[in-house]
Amino acid sequence: MSAFSRFTSLVTSLPSTIPFVGPEAIERQRGRAVKARIGANESGFGPAPSVLAAMGEAATGVWKYNDPENFELKQALARHLGTAPENLAIGEGIDGLLGLIVRMVVEPGLPVVTSLGGYPTFNFHVAGHGGRLVTVPYINDREDLDGLLAAVKREDAPLVYFANPDNPMGSWWDAESVVSFAKALPETCLLVLDEAYGETAPAGTIPSIASLIDMPNVIRTRTFSKAYGLAGARVGYVISAPGTAQAFDKIRNHFGMNRVGTAAAIAALADTGYLAEVLEKIAASRDRIAAIAVQSGLKPLPSATNFVTIDCGRDAIFARAIVDRLMEDHGIFIRMPGVAPLNRCIRISTGPEADMALLEEALPTVLESLSRQ
Ligand SMILES: Cc1ncc(COP(=O)(O)O)c(C=O)c1O
Repeated sequence: MSAFSRFTSLVTSLPSTIPFVGPEAIERQRGRAVKARIGANESGFGPAPSVLAAMGEAATGVWKYNDPENFELKQALARHLGTAPENLAIGEGIDGLLGLIVRMVVEPGLPVVTSLGGYPTFNFHVAGHGGRLVTVPYINDREDLDGLLAAVKREDAPLVYFANPDNPMGSWWDAESVVSFAKALPETCLLVLDEAYGETAPAGTIPSIASLIDMPNVIRTRTFSKAYGLAGARVGYVISAPGTAQAFDKIRNHFGMNRVGTAAAIAALADTGYLAEVLEKIAASRDRIAAIAVQSGLKPLPSATNFVTIDCGRDAIFARAIVDRLMEDHGIFIRMPGVAPLNRCIRISTGPEADMALLEEALPTVLESLSRQ
């Protein structure tokens, strides 16, 4: 394949990649329809009816560009969080914001610290900006805060990523430990505290806004993709000290937010009753997945997220076989962590009872067929 000859040396040096194989691609590749979409930590419970109505209304105005300042959404978020709008920046999901954060800090060759097997999109952006990833293994399936801190100091890293609660393991740290970690970091290191699963975490997990808001070297990232059921609408935001939050304006895509997504986010914040209902459904579904795993002799790990990670007790080949057989034989889409020793596990997103019933029927069949191989 011939490519344009004057791409940057960085782009030329990167391997060609499709980092995220989505369920649509799996359907195309395997010629099989997905019957239960419980692999990407979306919310099968969907957005609130009030949100769908607001999206319908916004759709009639979609011929207009969106407000590039995202004024209304920022106002609504500021009220919701008890911050000033100046503490916020809006972006195309956390994934988009992570790209901007990396771009703001990383120059080719600089060290960036994360957990070995942690959220891969962050790593993808680090590679795309020429950073050098420094990884710290999980301890007991949880991110190692002391290890991350030591790596930051050893490498004089300008950036560290920490998801609380964590994907792919579903584990979490208490708010006090998170705040101590943030305060122990050198001021020359920016902490990305990814709180994508903040809504589903137990009380005491998410630090108060006040505890970190004055720290210019802390950026918290949040999303409407998980508990609010709006993954396809692409709305995320950051909470930070004003100067840091405003830096996004220098490089963000000012017309990147779509009107329908923004309207959805504003409506979702207003519908607190629906969020409470969904959080109950997610908690019940976590229990259901755990029970299905136990029935099959597998070990579900505790989860503060909208998914359950299950220790299958063997190696990555066995876990991969379960993922593949569930999809190929039963149309059930799940995923698994990518790196040892986490990849002895499979990861199943919470979802409606119909999906759980399919899983309950299929998992023992798959395990039984693998035991005969
Ligand atoms: C830890 C973490 N951060 C961010 C995201 C992506 O969020 P968004 O849809 O807002 O880009 C995910 C989605 O799986 C995630 O697990």
